[in-house]
Amino acid sequence: MDIVFVVGTRPQLIKLASLVRAFNKKGLEYGIIHTGQHYDYEMDKIFFEELGLPEPIEYLGVGSGSHGEQTGKIIIGVEKAYLKHGVKIAVIPGDTNSALAAGIGGVKIGVEIAHVEAGLRSFEYYMAEEINRRVLDHISTFLFPPTVYAYMNLLKEGIDFSRIFLVGDVMYDNILLFKKQIERAKLPECIKEEYVYVTCHRAENVDFLERLKNIIYSLKKIADEGYQIVYPIHPRAYRRLLDYGLYSVLEKHDNICLLRPVSYFTSLKLASQALVTITDSGGLQKESFILGTPVITMRNTTEWIETVEYGWNFIVGYGSSRIYEVFKNIVENPPKKTSIEGVYGDGKASIRIADIIKKYLN
Ligand code: UD1
Repeated sequence: MDIVFVVGTRPQLIKLASLVRAFNKKGLEYGIIHTGQHYDYEMDKIFFEELGLPEPIEYLGVGSGSHGEQTGKIIIGVEKAYLKHGVKIAVIPGDTNSALAAGIGGVKIGVEIAHVEAGLRSFEYYMAEEINRRVLDHISTFLFPPTVYAYMNLLKEGIDFSRIFLVGDVMYDNILLFKKQIERAKLPECIKEEYVYVTCHRAENVDFLERLKNIIYSLKKIADEGYQIVYPIHPRAYRRLLDYGLYSVLEKHDNICLLRPVSYFTSLKLASQALVTITDSGGLQKESFILGTPVITMRNTTEWIETVEYGWNFIVGYGSSRIYEVFKNIVENPPKKTSIEGVYGDGKASIRIADIIKKYLN
């Protein structure tokens, strides 16, 4: 089998949706290697079902672990899988440990690496995802940046321009592709009229008591003012909320709706109807921006600079105590709508990727 996609986490499964459709359309044969980094139903299988993804040809089942353990196990597993299937190109979306390991495991045995979402940078050098994507970009044969900023980052790092293809964003492709399904998706039953959509999962926020406390009490303050908080909880955050005794602060509140992780269509529906999104997710920042919902980002920087430049993304830092104040300011002075046409391409990023790979293999 010439082509495989290697994925293992929720955001990577989502990115597969438009990619597999484009590869099908172009008549390309491929298999999926699933590392098993995410394994709960709501973090994994639900996306195969909802997005109609083909079953993986290999499931490595690595599960959770320290960075070294997880990355190491995936390198060993993908190497075997590549050799078994005679893989020529591994198409790898994103910047998780699964992505890095899939790249290292391939490049050393002559598998060409194609990185989807290349060139994104937060310039936070200690951040796991920043390390992963920097290394992955420098061992890739094909780099597919989603934005002009990402393209420029790669050139600045001295990567040969003949390997870089500014194709657009596959997640933007997804939003266009699934417009109807998103519109038709049912909102969770708890939803009231005006709600704030919250997600929070980054280690930099949830693994520090003081930071998580600031976030939780900011959310409580917003809920105390009468705005509903709708918060699907990532398993990492759930564990920490319990460890730090903060879950009960949220659980008891009439205006806070806690959910298990939601599906892709539900998440986008929630983002599209929310008053404001508060998140530390890369994908959701951009999705909210595209769907016209202002977003507060609980991180020190963003890879999606356009969202800030257009005035829709408010960066407050990890574990910030400014969330409430910034929220109030957005509600009182909502940002003005302007056209964002072309910022993330034209909805054909996945098709371009398929075309480039097809041409290379012929
Ligand atoms: C990972 C990615 C991050 C991405 C996120 C999306 C890395 C370094 N991080 O972070 O870039 O934004 O996925 O969700 O690759 N867990 C479960 N069930 C699961 C998966 C995880 O309970 O199905 C729990 C485990 O306790 C695990 C913890 O969540 O230890 C963290 O999971 P892990 O995959 O290591 O990192 P994420 O925080 O999910």
